[in-house]
Amino acid sequence: MTDTAVVPEDVTEETVTDAVVDSFAGTPDGRLRDLLTAVVRHLHAAVREVEPTIAEWEAAIDFLTRTGQTCDPTRQEFVLLSDVLGVSALVENINHRKVAGATEATVLGPFHMTESPVRANGDTIDLVGGREPCVVTGRVLTTAGTPIPGAVVDVWQADEDGFYDVQVPDRQPAGNGRGLFTTDDQGRFWFTTVVPSYYPIPTDGPVGQLLGATARHPNRPAHIHFIAEAPGHVPVTTHIFVAGSAYLDSDAVFAVKRSLVRDFEPVDDPGSAARFGVANPFRHAEIDLVVQAVAG
Ligand code: BEZ
Ligand code: FE
Repeated sequence: MTDTAVVPEDVTEETVTDAVVDSFAGTPDGRLRDLLTAVVRHLHAAVREVEPTIAEWEAAIDFLTRTGQTCDPTRQEFVLLSDVLGVSALVENINHRKVAGATEATVLGPFHMTESPVRANGDTIDLVGGREPCVVTGRVLTTAGTPIPGAVVDVWQADEDGFYDVQVPDRQPAGNGRGLFTTDDQGRFWFTTVVPSYYPIPTDGPVGQLLGATARHPNRPAHIHFIAEAPGHVPVTTHIFVAGSAYLDSDAVFAVKRSLVRDFEPVDDPGSAARFGVANPFRHAEIDLVVQAVAG
């Protein structure tokens, strides 16, 4: 009996990209097919451009392996990698193309991994008694400027030395620098805290090695994170940046927007200090978080 089986054509350097893309033709989820197709086309293009040696490709695989191995319940090295490559900022910008008047969004970052404790307006999120008190006041508003009562504002920040609670559990109790607030009947929220410091993103893992190898500094300018959520509105994930902070012009994760820079004004007013329950003098920052209505 003669063998009539068709001899397949070789998959070559020239045809491998189309062969992989064609292999996705039966993907039931069209969006997944499109994503995989784009990733494969761009990845193959990069490989064609740089022509890595086998050793270089193995080093790349090793880097990604170590990135995964560095992740644990309080450390997300892949988020950090996305951040330092500017991908987080790009995804955020694409998904929150600014509606006129809405607060600009910026990256979530890897330190929002614990639930913020529910707090009442006026509470402090500084559980360790920092050096200089700071009052933060703000409102959640529609793009028409209408205050939204009952909106939820999640806040997290580093301390005056540039550390989040999860980084130094021996020095900060869990929940330090964090709070989940609800706006009052006039859409307002307020809390006391400390002015955060600029800080380096974690450099003791593969992402730190990448920054070192590329002669980049690891620092983020001083900031406070916010997520504002209100029914019928698109949640906004953002920061306020401390005006005058170091690294405002070279954020390691490409997340600074000028519209989010705020003066943390020195206030010397015993009456105001007493009303907010802080020592005089203190610092004050203000942020209105403007959310856009869900389309349709
Ligand atoms: C942060 O601001 O918490 C952050 C953002 C990106 C990378 C590392 C930290
Ligand atoms: Fe941060």
